Amino acid sequence: MSLPEAVGVVLKSFDISRERLAKVSDDIEKELISGLEHGSPKSSIAMLPSYVPALPDGSEVGKYVAIDLSGKNLRILLLELNGKGKEPNTTINNFIVPNAIMKGTGEQLFTFIVNCLQKFLKEFNLEDANLPIGFVFSYPCELLSIRSARLLWWTKGFDIQDCLQKDVVELLQEALELSMSTTGQIKAVMNDTVGQLASAAFKYGSECTIGVVIGYGCNSSYLEDTAKIKKFDPKVGNYSYDKMVVVTEWEEFGANGELADLLTPFDVEIDEASVHKGKQMIDKFTGALYLGELVRRILCQFIIDDLLFNGTSVEKLEFPESFPTKYISEILGEEDGSYTICRRICDELEVPNHGSNDYAVIRAVCHSVSARSAAIAAAAISALLRHLNQSNVKIGVGGALIQFHPTYHELLENALNMQAPLNVQWELVPADEGSAKGAAMIAAVAEKLKL
Ligand code: GLC
Repeated sequence: MSLPEAVGVVLKSFDISRERLAKVSDDIEKELISGLEHGSPKSSIAMLPSYVPALPDGSEVGKYVAIDLSGKNLRILLLELNGKGKEPNTTINNFIVPNAIMKGTGEQLFTFIVNCLQKFLKEFNLEDANLPIGFVFSYPCELLSIRSARLLWWTKGFDIQDCLQKDVVELLQEALELSMSTTGQIKAVMNDTVGQLASAAFKYGSECTIGVVIGYGCNSSYLEDTAKIKKFDPKVGNYSYDKMVVVTEWEEFGANGELADLLTPFDVEIDEASVHKGKQMIDKFTGALYLGELVRRILCQFIIDDLLFNGTSVEKLEFPESFPTKYISEILGEEDGSYTICRRICDELEVPNHGSNDYAVIRAVCHSVSARSAAIAAAAISALLRHLNQSNVKIGVGGALIQFHPTYHELLENALNMQAPLNVQWELVPADEGSAKGAAMIAAVAEKLKL
């Protein structure tokens, strides 16, 4: 079914040329290098030391817990590692962080986390087992050791002012101590990309040196030579290992206007409405926190322009967040031409009249924003591949878009086929629940290395 020409024109503005993507990728690479030398604010990409010297190699044993705060989802996981060649056992529970807590106080947030942990451990009679904990806190943090992370700024819609510049491990530890009935020792704190990298390395071996999360936001970590982290003084940091995982925080790229020409009017609106205007531009182009909202805004414009639903306004769609990113996954998950799910979603949105022409437009919009997200993510990954210059590399990928979006993996692979350096053999390797599982594994590594 051919789409109205005016729809095609708008969707064309989401296509980024090969040359422009190559420039984005080059610019990101320059910032990665500058970040290793100077860090933020001189570089828009902070390149944060993680103090993680090694990835798990499969020999780890024992019971570990992960607390993973990566967005609106708080995940608590129990991992039992059984040693080389044996599958680990995992149990996981998800809790949704209420909106009021995302913008409330630190005390509310950390009490909420500990209450969820307590509920979870109670099920297994492990409340006072004092298990080692890996804590995933996926917001930009300056680490002072593997167990100390000072929050630099919030992303992904969180805004809890009284946590800024505080050590989130201390805050969690204090909340744990206050809750008389739950014990645990926080062994390591890390960004979700570090957990993702660890669990992919555990599963796919030592060629896996890059971890990428494309979830609510988009970020990466990789195994770097300590000597190349020029701004880091191992003596001051009391660090004696040759390698260290670095968290890029590349989502901040674009804060100096480097991507301004790529912003459509819809992106500008999203940015204006965001908690951190002008920042985290890569998240805004790629992340699940924004993609659904982007589709919603495009659809609303199409209604005004009489290109959708015969121009009949849809009250529900007028509300921000009324088109969650999971709708994109559902719509793109059904066979071309069978619109059962799209029809259901239109019913949910109480669209008075809808038909196949509308479904084709909605589907095309979902595809365009997803393809652009994958193209930008691939530009960033390609920059890292060039910087790392490792001839064979497995890229551990995870996050909501990788896990639940039906075409994302393929879109990303195609985009990388166009953009990745030709002298690198790369492979995308997915690890589900990667960040939480990997965090528990890093807790095991920390224990093994007596960090
Ligand atoms: C956002 C966060 C970053 C995190 C990423 C994926 O970009 O700033 O720290 O790793 O989302 O969750």
